[in-house]
Amino acid sequence: MTKREQDWSSDIKMIFNEVELDESWSFADKTRKDTAYVTHGFHRYPAKFIPQLANRLICKYSRTEDLVVDPFCGCGTTSVESKINGRRSIGVDINPVATMISKAKITAIEPSRLATNVVGLQNKLQSYKVELVKQYPQHSRIDYWFYEDQKMKLAYLLQLINETPDTDIRNFYLCGFSNILKNCSIWLQKSSKPTRDFRKNVSDPFIAFNRHLKVMMRGNNSFFRHLQKDDRFDIQSDIHISDARCLPLESESTMLIVTSPPYVTSYEYADLHQLTAFWFDYTDSLPSFRKKFIGTAHHESKQLNLNSQVAEKIVSQLKANSRKIAIEVQTYFGEMYQVFHEMKRILRGGGKACVVIGNTGLKGVEILNAEVFAEQFLHLGFTVESIIKREIPSKILPSIRDPNTGKFAKSSCNAKVLAYPTEFILVMRKS
Ligand SMILES: C[S@@+](CC[C@H](N)C(=O)[O-])C[C@H]1O[C@@H](n2cnc3c(N)ncnc32)[C@H](O)[C@@H]1O
Repeated sequence: MTKREQDWSSDIKMIFNEVELDESWSFADKTRKDTAYVTHGFHRYPAKFIPQLANRLICKYSRTEDLVVDPFCGCGTTSVESKINGRRSIGVDINPVATMISKAKITAIEPSRLATNVVGLQNKLQSYKVELVKQYPQHSRIDYWFYEDQKMKLAYLLQLINETPDTDIRNFYLCGFSNILKNCSIWLQKSSKPTRDFRKNVSDPFIAFNRHLKVMMRGNNSFFRHLQKDDRFDIQSDIHISDARCLPLESESTMLIVTSPPYVTSYEYADLHQLTAFWFDYTDSLPSFRKKFIGTAHHESKQLNLNSQVAEKIVSQLKANSRKIAIEVQTYFGEMYQVFHEMKRILRGGGKACVVIGNTGLKGVEILNAEVFAEQFLHLGFTVESIIKREIPSKILPSIRDPNTGKFAKSSCNAKVLAYPTEFILVMRKS
């Protein structure tokens, strides 16, 4: 161990020992409605962060017109908040479902233009007959998840959406269509593992779509008014499908990164978004779709440099319990280091990377993501600007998860394991 490495290792322990809970970052007073304001309620998304968190980081660490980047943009929380605050932004995600949602959420449509189009679409839905369906998906996975009646109605709805000439309105509808798919299928409600529920009361696609359209229209209209008030329609806001390890950005172009990375073997985004991916033809093969995601259990094993003693220790502890999981965690930390390396490339000197991350546990071993990430950033020459510890209020994210079904459950159920009740915000500065 070199002298410098020794210093980092003791620094990490000291830094994290001293971090106290900062209640002002919990946003405990915020209701679900508050967190779904403007376009944030367009689509459910696993592990999205609350907009108030992104908003505060953006306002604190950047100025108007600065470029803000989220390399794991998910459903676009950082991008929406950047636009509202007059910051240019680029959101990147490997998941086409994420970028489809993000694009819809950053596009404010003039309310009366949208309302007229919605009436036209709803009128056409009323004249639905099976014979009007020109094309429906043949994919066996769609038959696996949907009953025939729902499948035909969804096919008709998608046909009408695809015939909508206005691109912004079409994307708006696609986002709404994607959001209702789980309710219209036999996917076990609220489960993070794809499981069929044959007793489920499956929603009617037209009723579910019309109901969700109302929510989306309210959100769009409020977003439109926000941008109109401050004349922010033309602020650059781009979304790209790309890998966080190879960002479509110039070196030293970015002042601020605000992101929450994927967790290791937690959510399988490819599995969770398979309904949309099959309906929109984003993939025809689940195995190849899965491999692209950092944190997946279906990765190709690689020997990567972790550049973190905390990570090395976690991996060696895991090896005693499960070699397979040890390799998954090793790959994850190695790939995250590559992402941080890429963040360093795109940040300007003095620019900050804000990473929201919680610690978890696997096979009885604590997975200290926050400590590992901090150590990796230090290895890359970043300095610590601030480390914030926040509580995740249970009304925003249920803190207990059933280990068998993956379903979130009430905290009173004592046979369950704790999942992310607190998390850290690492604010790292590029020198
Ligand atoms: C915790 S979620 C981000 C949620 C986001 N903060 C929001 O509010 O919606 C992590 C994201 O990382 C994405 N991801 C996983 N591997 C990736 C990769 N190699 N490159 C880019 N994005 C990736 C997943 O698709 C997922 O959207």
